[in-house]
Amino acid sequence: MIQALSYIGFISPAAKEWETFGPEILGAELAGPGPDGSVRLRVDEAAHRISIHPGDHDDLAYLGWAVDGPRALAEAKARLSDLGVTVQQGDSELTTERAVVELAWFVDLFGFRHELSWGQRTVPASFRPGRPMSGFVTGAQGLGHAVLVVPSLADAEAFYCEVMGFRLSDQINAQGMTIRFYHCNTRHHSLALAEVPGVVGYHHLMLETASLDDVGTAYDEVLKREIPLAMTLGRHVNDLMTSFYVRTPSGFEIEYGHGGLQVDDTATTPRAYDSFSIWGHHPPAEPLLPGIARPFPGDDQ
Ligand SMILES: [Fe+2]
Repeated sequence: MIQALSYIGFISPAAKEWETFGPEILGAELAGPGPDGSVRLRVDEAAHRISIHPGDHDDLAYLGWAVDGPRALAEAKARLSDLGVTVQQGDSELTTERAVVELAWFVDLFGFRHELSWGQRTVPASFRPGRPMSGFVTGAQGLGHAVLVVPSLADAEAFYCEVMGFRLSDQINAQGMTIRFYHCNTRHHSLALAEVPGVVGYHHLMLETASLDDVGTAYDEVLKREIPLAMTLGRHVNDLMTSFYVRTPSGFEIEYGHGGLQVDDTATTPRAYDSFSIWGHHPPAEPLLPGIARPFPGDDQ
């Protein structure tokens, strides 16, 4: 029922820092601020796709998933309700803020908020990158991919595949960790789940550029400004993305890459790998600990 990752929101005490990090490092365009002072970024013709809301701690606020129009949204709501998930209809204030026609949202078993919507507001030929670059690969592949930390892969997979309709692309077992990758369009994965028992968290958002040179020029900028890298330049074994991971002002990483694999849904047989990368993606001498992670279940559960 999900078509693509269409937008994403975070809360952070460092929201303001995205006014420079977004355009000058990522090449995103600043959209006007949100009603709560959120910093909103554009990466294509959509009104905005990344929002950083001011808040007292760093956290993922919501994942925005596109569905195929009003009937698909109604069907999704009915299906979720049948499965015992409480679904709320977004009011006009919320749809205006998210720049969509219609929206419904729910909270999953780990506390992540998902928003399903259709009709993302788009302004053709209007994207102006924040620094010289070729642009981002979006369209039917959506914004990029999101990687969540979950305490149980089995529980997570049951929900995200059976309830939300994601399909497994492949799995990597390496460095004592299992990560599974899921697609909902031709992008190799729009969602990945990393299993860490007892922990819920958010790891990274991947943005794919139109040219390898965009990755190289961003890498130069990160090195020049001595912004912490979570992983050096490298190429992944499964989606073949050439990328690096930079720590954002808000405790999570942006994977900034080019050349990601597209999957043919009819021919996908999940593979398994025992390493993350063909080359590179080395952590720093002092690895960065995930900045968005909390015990699960929490004290209140
Ligand atoms: Fe990634």
